[in-house]
Amino acid sequence: MRILVTGGAGFIGGHVVTALRAAGHDVGVLDLLHPAAHRSPPPDADRVDVRDRAAVAAMLDGVDAVVHQAAMVGMGVDLADLPEYVGCNDLGTAVLLAEMARVGVRRLVLASSMVVYGEGGYACPSHGATSPAPRAAADLDAGRFEPGCPACGAPLEPRDVDEGAPPRPRSVYAATKVAQEHLAQAWALAGAGTVVALRYHNVYGPGMPRDTPYSGVAAIFRSALAAGRAPRVFEDGAQRRDFVHVTDVAAANVLALDAAVDGFRAYNIASGRPTTVGAMAATLAAAMDGPAPVITGDHRAGDVRHVVAAPGRARAELGFTAAVDLTEGLRDFATAPLRAL
Ligand code: UD1
Repeated sequence: MRILVTGGAGFIGGHVVTALRAAGHDVGVLDLLHPAAHRSPPPDADRVDVRDRAAVAAMLDGVDAVVHQAAMVGMGVDLADLPEYVGCNDLGTAVLLAEMARVGVRRLVLASSMVVYGEGGYACPSHGATSPAPRAAADLDAGRFEPGCPACGAPLEPRDVDEGAPPRPRSVYAATKVAQEHLAQAWALAGAGTVVALRYHNVYGPGMPRDTPYSGVAAIFRSALAAGRAPRVFEDGAQRRDFVHVTDVAAANVLALDAAVDGFRAYNIASGRPTTVGAMAATLAAAMDGPAPVITGDHRAGDVRHVVAAPGRARAELGFTAAVDLTEGLRDFATAPLRAL
């Protein structure tokens, strides 16, 4: 197939391009080379903005499907970034969808995120499945990290989050990801084509951007260890995440192109083997022969406590199972090149 990958110069997009080419697809790349992610872009790369209708239309010529990875990521460092997030992520998606409809490109694979869920799934011992409110600063300051039951205040037990959970965005970035999904869903409902939305969990691997305000925690820990410093683990280190290797995420994108979906369908893309941030830090520190992690008790505004995926739908419907074991993946990651911005 001829595929257009937006954001193909980025961390995940670059791996997606490689995997699609390895699977025999003819791949074109569209990338804004946004200065927040590409301070020194490769000199031979073309800069194309997904908000530029004419440029997007030209790149859609002869294309069978679009894999849309282009987005500003991270939690938003400053509310002043709000228009840029909405512009890149939502206006960009709207322009892409409009041009795809006009040209007749009927297949979209959308890079979404587990951030659409806000907190993961939870159950109260007395009240069953529930969804906690954002944690109060006073609780976090006092070291009470586990969210409480909205009905009785008892600490909740984390559960896998599945794709049926309603969206509860907790950041500007998360809100733009929910809006991307909703726009794509409306596009599919209008009969323009089919959409596979891949909700990535915590992606790590070679080529990850170095320690920046936008980096995921694996790159932050890796950069600290490379400088001889201990990883600084927030809260009590028991917060749970699902770290999924970027080559597995790329493989999920390849599978998504062939998925037999009707309209719009979302999938958790995760390893299915969750861990705690403290355990991930300890494994990476051991792999790098570095100082043991320090549990700081600090907390970050807007952080969620546990987000752990139910990976069953992606396995059943896309045939996706993550291949990379976390310990092995972190061992490779310990020496893999990161990307300087
Ligand atoms: C991250 C992204 C989110 C993305 C999602 C899925 C950021 C800020 N968040 O969410 O946009 O959609 O993955 O890929 O980019 N932590 C430490 N020490 C640090 C930094 C972080 O202990 O130095 C902890 C955090 O408090 C949190 C956990 O590590 O509990 C994960 O943090 P992060 O990597 O930022 O990921 P998420 O917040 O899960």
